[in-house]
Amino acid sequence: MAQVSLKKLVKSYGAVQVVQGIDLDVADGEFIALVGPSGCGKSTTLRMIAGLESISDGAVEIGGTVVNDLPPRDRNISMVFQSYALYPHMTVRENMGFSLKIAKQPQSEIDRQVNEASAILGLEALMDRRPAQLSGGQRQRVAMGRAIVRHPEVFLFDEPLSNLDAKLRTQMRTEIKKLHAKVQSTVIYVTHDQVEAMTLADRIVIMRDGHIEQVGTPDEVFKRPASRFVAGFIGSPPMNIEEATIRDGQMVFRNGDSLPLPAQFAGAVTESQKVVFGLRPDDIFPSGHGLSSGGAGMIHEAELPVSITEPLGNETLVFVEFAGREWVSRMLNPHALRPGERIAMSFDFSQAHLFSAETGKSLARPVKD
Ligand SMILES: Nc1ncnc2c1ncn2[C@@H]1O[C@H](COP(=O)(O)OP(=O)(O)OP(=O)(O)O)[C@@H](O)[C@H]1O
Ligand SMILES: [Mg+2]
Repeated sequence: MAQVSLKKLVKSYGAVQVVQGIDLDVADGEFIALVGPSGCGKSTTLRMIAGLESISDGAVEIGGTVVNDLPPRDRNISMVFQSYALYPHMTVRENMGFSLKIAKQPQSEIDRQVNEASAILGLEALMDRRPAQLSGGQRQRVAMGRAIVRHPEVFLFDEPLSNLDAKLRTQMRTEIKKLHAKVQSTVIYVTHDQVEAMTLADRIVIMRDGHIEQVGTPDEVFKRPASRFVAGFIGSPPMNIEEATIRDGQMVFRNGDSLPLPAQFAGAVTESQKVVFGLRPDDIFPSGHGLSSGGAGMIHEAELPVSITEPLGNETLVFVEFAGREWVSRMLNPHALRPGERIAMSFDFSQAHLFSAETGKSLARPVKD
């Protein structure tokens, strides 16, 4: 069994705490994605779990045992990095078997493990090539093969796909998902790419400035972001977010435009409170093109000027001007819209989010999931 637990885990460089006492319990076999802006401490956290970085305070437990003082090779983990650094002079077969050879496994056992891993990863035809004779995606698969031959209880991935082009990334993402379904190891996967996180992970951990902002399933962090930060970080295009002040049941934005306060928030705010209003691009649509999931009474309509449209093939982003900024609406089949044209837009208030401007924390949940 390989649960991984982080207990008040801290990493300091001199006076600076780059990981600020994080707690996290990862279940055996669970796939966890660690996301967050550059410099928030993802790699440092992963490297502490791997044993590649010393722990300043707190503990890492793997399978119920504190491993703080165990060297990486005794932690039963495999790590796959962004730069997969294969040995250029070795064949694929030799690269994959190298760690077992170092561990002095008999050749028959090495062959067995390497063949099994190459079958899982579809590398059979490439086993006698050298890295220079492989594509980026194939090299990445070899790097993964090198990790899985050791049958680790825990896989640690640090942005393993970020060197690949968009198409390969998508392919490899599917490979990783299949791999996890087959080997059922615990996975902690660091990525910048929220689509990767959403599609792969059982739960997503959103980090910011060395602490955890929210942990939840992809659905939870998307539909119920605990803070303004998470709301803006998860989802593409990002949630429309704008500061407002509560006055007489209205949300008054900085340029003086206003919206009525959605009814479900009435008890959550006080007069003159500064709040942050949020609505996803899917929850703003040209009137007549969508339905409120909270019922007709939850729709607010406004006639707004279109600033620009961005057709993406399967959908179109429509930008409208309101409250001194552009609000993006995601549409499947809008009729042709010209810049400057005014259109009736529907705001689905049942899906609205409200955060405290002061703390950034969510003040209330959307009416329905
Ligand atoms: N050896 C070091 N000495 C001092 N500061 C360091 C050291 N290594 C990392 N840091 C700092 O620790 C913070 C966290 O770094 P880390 O590499 O964990 O970020 P990250 O979330 O992985 O970012 P990225 O997405 O850019 O990879 C950063 O501010 C970084 O500058
Ligand atoms: Mg990193």
